[in-house]
Amino acid sequence: MSKGTQHVTTDTQLYGRLLTYAFHYKWSLILSFLGFVVYSLGNVLLADLTQFLLDSLGGQQMMSLGFVAQASQWIWPPGDKSATDYARIAVPVAAVVLSLGRALGFFAGSYFMNKVARSVVHTVRTELFGALVRAPKVHLDQFSTGELLSKVTFNVEQVSGAASDALKTLLREGLTIVALVSYMLYLNWELTAVFFVVAPAIGLVVHVVGKHFRRYSRRIQDSMGSVTEVTAESLAGLDDVRIYGATSQVSERFESASGFNKQQSLKLAFVQAASTPIMQTLLALALGALFWFALDPDVLAEFSAGSLVAFITAAAQLGKPIRTLSSIQSIIQRGLAAAEDIFVQLDTPPEIDQGEAKLQVVKGKVEFNCVDFKYPGAQANAISNISFSIEPGQTVAVVGRSGSGKSTLVKLLARFYLPTSGDILLDGENVQNIGLEHYRDQLAFVPQNITIFSDSVAANIALGGMSGSARTAIEQAAEQAQAAKFIQDLDSGYDTLIGDQGLGLSGGQQQRIAIARALLKQAPVLILDEATSALDTESEALIQSALDATREGRTTFVVAHRLSTIESADSVLLMDDGKVVAQGSHKQLLETEPLYRSLHQQGFVDE
Ligand SMILES: Nc1ncnc2c1ncn2[C@@H]1O[C@H](COP(=O)(O)OP(=O)(O)OP(=O)(O)O)[C@@H](O)[C@H]1O
Ligand SMILES: [Mg+2]
Repeated sequence: MSKGTQHVTTDTQLYGRLLTYAFHYKWSLILSFLGFVVYSLGNVLLADLTQFLLDSLGGQQMMSLGFVAQASQWIWPPGDKSATDYARIAVPVAAVVLSLGRALGFFAGSYFMNKVARSVVHTVRTELFGALVRAPKVHLDQFSTGELLSKVTFNVEQVSGAASDALKTLLREGLTIVALVSYMLYLNWELTAVFFVVAPAIGLVVHVVGKHFRRYSRRIQDSMGSVTEVTAESLAGLDDVRIYGATSQVSERFESASGFNKQQSLKLAFVQAASTPIMQTLLALALGALFWFALDPDVLAEFSAGSLVAFITAAAQLGKPIRTLSSIQSIIQRGLAAAEDIFVQLDTPPEIDQGEAKLQVVKGKVEFNCVDFKYPGAQANAISNISFSIEPGQTVAVVGRSGSGKSTLVKLLARFYLPTSGDILLDGENVQNIGLEHYRDQLAFVPQNITIFSDSVAANIALGGMSGSARTAIEQAAEQAQAAKFIQDLDSGYDTLIGDQGLGLSGGQQQRIAIARALLKQAPVLILDEATSALDTESEALIQSALDATREGRTTFVVAHRLSTIESADSVLLMDDGKVVAQGSHKQLLETEPLYRSLHQQGFVDE
């Protein structure tokens, strides 16, 4: 259990869960395991070969002691050859065969374990992405885009280390140790027992070092999040950075994030670099003791020269696997730290979608009943006690000062956030009782910050569920959104690829593509959040008439800043400080509401 943190999962649970991903690739794991068994047996038998070589010098009767010698004589009986003549051929042949077998085992073990690793990365990354795109906005709002990017890229790679590289090393070196120690036990168990005296000391080192590794790994991970965050933010806002002379400011932020990463990585490297020599020293002490006992005349009497050398060779060979095992601990701890973080994301329940109701024909009556909403972590409600009712087919202009809660209101309607209290109804049905996908099918939404994907213009208009739309329908939607003309002027018209975030299009053009997208959907409820603010007066007038035509038979919410839009609406919702202060026609509000009059005087543009 990692103390001092809120995590309640134990390492075993964590590792167990990580391994379940690897266990999906059973056959690769088995092949890899077999490969490493062959590899470690090869190691032991190569030690055993020294016994064959040495004992052959002692004549025929000594030669039958080792495994390799016995196997060799069984396969190819020596007949009347002298022991040295026989060994002269058999030892080199056995050495080559054993080395080849060991090499093959190493290849199979490594390759198939890598196959498992890459598959685990792919699966975990895909699941993580899936969890993120399904997570509620209140959850995602806690992280910057950079931090989320770093989870999907850096953290997942760390997990792959623990799930595979570590597993590979654990298998290869663990099996080698098991094989070598078994062989030593077989040759002389009392002598081998000396080795186990240092086991508790090694265990203690592993434990202490592991704790440090985990702490530094978490910090390295967080600092990678900051590095990505600063990079993503600075590059996205490069224009502002340059105009306001913030280049050195963001460079400093970057340097400090990256510097912290370096510092923590160095701490990790320090512990890692220190732990290996400590282990080696412990091992050297054990080896020293071993030799001291081994050269005891009583013990010597029990050994043939060959088996003594074989024993010492095997003991000396233990050094490398133990050293390697101690070095993978950092990989395991990094992986576990990352897995902890990834599993938190994977365990985040997706957006609440418990309703099963399906509306047959959606008319588009929208009601808010005493709706309150507070952003997590905020002091006050962003929306307080909002109640209103909109008849099907009406157009409502939502008007109010900046920060009065207009965007929040329409986001609640889109179910991006759930009301803290109160109900929202569509055609008399509480929207939370309606299946989420079915509900969103009834909405088209042009958000305040629109998104253009790196794809063709046509694909950007016919997004997601509309991807099968006929080209004529796409063109018609673009026509209505006043986008057709500039699209036709693009190099490849509707097939022009537009870059990341609409690179190559003006703000108004991007907005018109987003409007075309919304119009193509032909949904019963249309929401436009300041959809016309980036347009010139002429385009706006044209879109206004398009909206007039398309709003027939659908309920439309327009967060409006323009007099023309507001005047043509059936009713106006006047918002202030998170409340709806009045609802009525433009004329009525002008007469009765001083706030409305003052907004009107400013031309409704309050920014
Ligand atoms: N993700 C968020 N987390 C916390 N508070 C938020 C969040 N988004 C908005 N707010 C707060 O909620 C209030 C209402 O914001 P909202 O975006 O709804 O205003 P608005 O009326 O759309 O303003 P504008 O006309 O400037 O777009 C503001 O005080 C704002 O600070
Ligand atoms: Mg807004």
